[in-house]
Amino acid sequence: MFKQMLQDLLLTYGPSGREDAIAACIERYAAPYADDIRRDALGNLIVHRAGKSGKRVMLSAHMDQIGLVVVDIDENGFLRIAPVGGVSPAIAAARQVVFANGVRGVTGWETKSKTAATAAMPELFVDIGASDRESAEAHVNVGDMCVFAGDFIDMGDRVACAAMDNRIACAVLLEVLRRMQTDHEVYAVFTVQEEVGLRGAAPAAYAIEPDLNINLDTTLTGDTPECGKLNMMLGKGAAIKAMDSSVIVPAAVRRFLTDVAEKHHIAYQHEVLRAGGTDTGAIQRVRDGVLAGCISIPTRYIHTPVETIALSDAENAVRLVCAALEEEALPVAPGTKPVV
Ligand code: CO
Repeated sequence: MFKQMLQDLLLTYGPSGREDAIAACIERYAAPYADDIRRDALGNLIVHRAGKSGKRVMLSAHMDQIGLVVVDIDENGFLRIAPVGGVSPAIAAARQVVFANGVRGVTGWETKSKTAATAAMPELFVDIGASDRESAEAHVNVGDMCVFAGDFIDMGDRVACAAMDNRIACAVLLEVLRRMQTDHEVYAVFTVQEEVGLRGAAPAAYAIEPDLNINLDTTLTGDTPECGKLNMMLGKGAAIKAMDSSVIVPAAVRRFLTDVAEKHHIAYQHEVLRAGGTDTGAIQRVRDGVLAGCISIPTRYIHTPVETIALSDAENAVRLVCAALEEEALPVAPGTKPVV
């Protein structure tokens, strides 16, 4: 069930700013568990479930994926491209790509003095099988975006695909909606444009004015050969974020999440990311500040077409968010008396 839903989310098109198809896909899964669903002006999908505790919890996961945008089409029908989000040229070369309208292509690179590994992004191009500009423009135009064509690789508990960042977190959030038992009012927000600089989440948080935000995203790991030292590993549980380059999670929120994990014997690990940000950083800075934390799914080979996760970590993340929502007392800001 979960694996099937995940696969569906992974293979649905949705680069930053072009999230209509993935939003529609998520809405279909969320509808049975929602009191109402809406999209705001930026395209954030906001799934609302009423509650009676008087407290609002915003759960969030970005639904956009990295991609490539067409910047020019030459007389021979080759498309020059620029990155949408963090796409390295070495990873973008020699790939299969797909556009919103289903047009497929492959990426090539200028070979005069470059290998695929050393070519810069302006030296890459997409070949959609066209032989001149007119026939290319019959399918694709400047401003159109393509994404890495995903193959879902099922290795058992571990699975790999393009767009695992962040569709695994979207799948976790949908599973939470299905399972959660809570008195709190819940807003599950599937945000837009995270990959281009955390652009969608803040306006949604401004509108919702939550008492607590729990964001869900992927994070790097330190468990592959000769990689940099990092604490996170596949299969060791949900990662509770302490810090990344966008956010320092308030002690009260981090303690709340680790206490809940300990109480329910849910496997978790501590996360510090040297570089990279998440929506948590944008959400905590709206209005007069929002208490926000983040639960991450450790992911190998992030921002490649083979992003790899352990389904057991996703299950632990689902259990942790559900258990957190069952807590009557939510974390409070420093200097604030708990409201009982
Ligand atoms: Co990302």
